[in-house]
Formats: sequence, C-alpha cells, structure tokens
Amino acid sequence: MSWKLLISDGLEESGIKALQNQGFIVEVKHFNPEELKINLPLYDGIIVRSATKVRADLMDLCPKLKFIARGGVGLDNIDVSHAQNRGILVINTPASSSRSVAELAMAHILCISRSLQISNRSMIDKESFIELKKRLSNSYELQGRTLLLIGMGRIGRELAKMAIGNGMHVIATDPFIERAEIAFNIAEQAFKINIKLVSLEIGLKQADYISIHSPYNGNKILDESQFLQMKKGVCIINTSRGENINEIALLQAIDSGIVRAVGLDVFENEPNINAEILKNPFISMSPHIGASTLDAQQRIAQELVDKIVTLKAEFIPL
Ligand code: 3PG
Repeated sequence: MSWKLLISDGLEESGIKALQNQGFIVEVKHFNPEELKINLPLYDGIIVRSATKVRADLMDLCPKLKFIARGGVGLDNIDVSHAQNRGILVINTPASSSRSVAELAMAHILCISRSLQISNRSMIDKESFIELKKRLSNSYELQGRTLLLIGMGRIGRELAKMAIGNGMHVIATDPFIERAEIAFNIAEQAFKINIKLVSLEIGLKQADYISIHSPYNGNKILDESQFLQMKKGVCIINTSRGENINEIALLQAIDSGIVRAVGLDVFENEPNINAEILKNPFISMSPHIGASTLDAQQRIAQELVDKIVTLKAEFIPL
C-alpha cells in the first residue's frame, strides 16, 4: 500500500520527484500548528526542516504516523524520545549540510573582519565613500589570528580547514572528543593537522574569533560571565542555535568594547528578532541560511529519499 507523505517545510524538487517515482503519495503544504493537528493524522510520514514543530501532543493525535524525517541536522523541533516511545522513527541528515554551514561561518568571519556589514549599510554616495574609507581603515588580517571553535563535529572540522587555509591558528573546545585530527586535500596534496583542544576558559582568553558549532542543550554557552573572560576586541560567530548566546549579554559586550563584531545566522527568538540586534552596526546577519544552499539541499533530499525508501522496504506493521 502507498504511503502518504506530508512535506511541511519544502524539499528540493529532485527529492519530491524521486519519492513520487518510488510510489509515495506526496503533498507539499505548510499547515499552521492548529491545522496540522487536524491534517497530520491522515499521513504516514512527515518531512520537516526547522520551522514545523512536531511535539508530543501532535504525535498522540496521529496513530498512523510511521516516521518523522528532518531534512537537516537539529532535532530540537521534534520530541524525539516521545516519538521513540510511540514507535515513530525519527531520521535526519547529519552530514549533508556541514560544508554549507561552515562556508557561511567563514563568510561571516571575513565580512565582520573588514566591516562589510557597515559598508553595505552605509555606502550611498561620494561623501559616504570618503568618510567610510577613513572610518574603516582600522581592521586586521585574519592571518595569525586565533579562532576558537566551540564544538569540533563535522561543521567545526570543515570550518577549521578553511580557517587554516586563511592562515588562522585554530584551537577547539569539545567535551566529547579527546583528539581532533583533521584531514584535507589542497591542490591534490593530502594534509593532516592536529587541532589543539583546550578548556572553554582557556579558549575564551586566547581567542580573537569564537565560532559556535554545538547544539543547544538547555544551557547558554556564551552568557555574561563568559563574555567577561574574553580578550578585548574578540569577534563572535554563531551558525548553530540562537539560544546558545544570551543576546542581551552580547549587546552589552559590544557596548563595553569586549566584542568588536559579530556574525549571526541564528537568533534567540526566531523569526522575531530583538530590534537592538537588528539595528546594531557591528552585527552581520543572515536569516538562518546555513544549510540553504542548492548543494546541501540536493544532498539532504537524496539522503532522505534513500532513508525513507529503505524504511518502507523494512517496515513491519505492529
Ligand atoms: C539544521 O539544523 O540543519 C540547520 O539549522 C538548518 O535548519 P533549516 O533546515 O531549517 O534551514
């Protein structure tokens, strides 16, 4: 029997076609939370990104639901343990978007290093050109600067390669690993580099740049006390989860001169962003687009289709 699938936050076109070719009945539609409670019980599976929340109360209304597929990494919008208890399988695509997220983090590093977010907002005419040229002549090269990676999983490792390629000194903190060797190819030459692991306290004191690559586990990673331990003039980049940083403490750290500039792809209360963050000229912003490249979305679609097809082939009804 055909399974009926709801694609709630979109899926790259090739994935939709592949699912249809495999005999799934596919509907692409974003319901609001109340509508979803009425409609999801009609489906065998749901495919989401981060916008749709699949919480316990919703699952309890859906006895037919066999799986929840997350096109992406973070599972914070899904009550995973409740799904497991109900026998609903949760799948995600942990590796498909790492490179894209790391490239966006690198883009924010380069952007804030040369204050491009200020130039882009302020260059209007000849006067602003001359004034900005003077005002923005106080930046530094990345070469020789220290980057602290908070989290040395797939994304942290990809960013480490790019930062090293830019001449940066990379250190990392990650309570889950004991060694951090990264392997990469440049101009057909293979390299292996061991990244020095440090405690968060030491890393905060040494870093010129700090980039977060950890899921949100209910505790802020950068709060008031962490900002006080940082080197004056540090730059912060967050492409992980907005909740990892206390935004009020971040704004205070910018005002007091501890933080020189910030690159944010994620925010504490998406999509309702703090107005003080939005208007701060020292913050380069993007609207949670880390995984939103065509390359990543094609890989995500392919991985999800493969997993869903296997799941159906192996499915044993209770
Ligand atoms: C993820 O967890 O994969 C990223 O945060 C991307 O989320 P998105 O698919 O909603 O863009």
